[in-house]
Amino acid sequence: MDRGTGPAVLVTGGAGYIGAHTAKALHGRGYRPVVFDDLTSGFREAVQWGPLVEGDIRDADALAETIKTHDIQAVIHFAGLIEVGRSVAKPDLFWEVNVSGTTALLTVMREHGVGQLVFSSSAAVYGQGARGPLETIAETADKAPASPYGDTKLAAEWLIQAQCRAYGLTAVALRYFNAAGADPSGLIGEAHEPETHLIPLAIAAALGDGPPLTIFGQDFETPDGTCLRDYIHVSDLAAAHVAALEAGLAPGAFEAVNVGTGQGRSVAEVVEAVGRAVGCAVPHSLGARRAGDPPSLVADPRRAQEVLGWTPQHSSLDTIVADALRWERKPCYGSGVRGPKGRRKSQIAV
Ligand code: UFG
Repeated sequence: MDRGTGPAVLVTGGAGYIGAHTAKALHGRGYRPVVFDDLTSGFREAVQWGPLVEGDIRDADALAETIKTHDIQAVIHFAGLIEVGRSVAKPDLFWEVNVSGTTALLTVMREHGVGQLVFSSSAAVYGQGARGPLETIAETADKAPASPYGDTKLAAEWLIQAQCRAYGLTAVALRYFNAAGADPSGLIGEAHEPETHLIPLAIAAALGDGPPLTIFGQDFETPDGTCLRDYIHVSDLAAAHVAALEAGLAPGAFEAVNVGTGQGRSVAEVVEAVGRAVGCAVPHSLGARRAGDPPSLVADPRRAQEVLGWTPQHSSLDTIVADALRWERKPCYGSGVRGPKGRRKSQIAV
């Protein structure tokens, strides 16, 4: 494996969707990404741009050993649980992994003099989102998470900010809106199990790899009645992490920054875009609202430009869908991998 020669960056959760794309972006900028992942939801095959250390984010000894062995200079922290619905059923587990895991990491970083952190946060910290369908959400908006998942992301942000004040850590929390798409190389992409996200489900329905899509709710106060979201290409998200590392913030600085485009797209628009890309209408039915879905979650993206000098480059809806489709047609790992007759392994009866 060809390795960069620049500073080593620990990427916790680097075998996951956004983490793997960020490891690739780091490598492309000459850094040496070192992935730390327990592989409970990530994939060994997604780790292609540096070594993989298998470990649990709550295991301080394993983190310390990794930091020493690889001469880690900065950390990008993705490791955590992400399923909103599961967080409602198992809040204690989410606090344990997402908050206690972050505490363990911060302690080890302090003990080993690692002073720079980029944290994977979420628009889930804002809860019910904008007041009106045409309003974007700035970083200063009220924080009222609507799930234990969102609570743990906000709590971890507070913990990190307190350590910046107390110990001079420099940190950026990136609040992602809707991550989507895949690396144009086709080497890495989205592989959640179970998959709950709109774009992969719509593509699976259109390709005949999955059931018809259910559109959750058509009676929201939005222009076409379906929910508005801010879809951001995962390669743009990855670039935002590198920009956060390179933002040149002073010791002790903490910034929480939205990562989105500022453009809301409705579920109906996404379904149309997938239909255009695949060349056939997406089979779908109209269903009830999904519990907890805010009508509109669209970023005010200005702070990312100011603080990180970052703007999205690949996040037109058609580019996102085209890159997602390339991956879904031929995923390299996950249950979507195809058998000899082109059917997904997950669909082949055993
Ligand atoms: N949707 C459908 N049918 C589906 C799946 C989704 O209509 O089968 C709709 C949802 O109702 C929503 C939109 O498509 O309006 C996007 O849904 P996703 O599940 O793709 O994404 P979410 O906006 O629910 O989730 C995102 C992130 C989460 C984060 C959450 C915060 O993926 O990690 O925003 O609200 F927690």
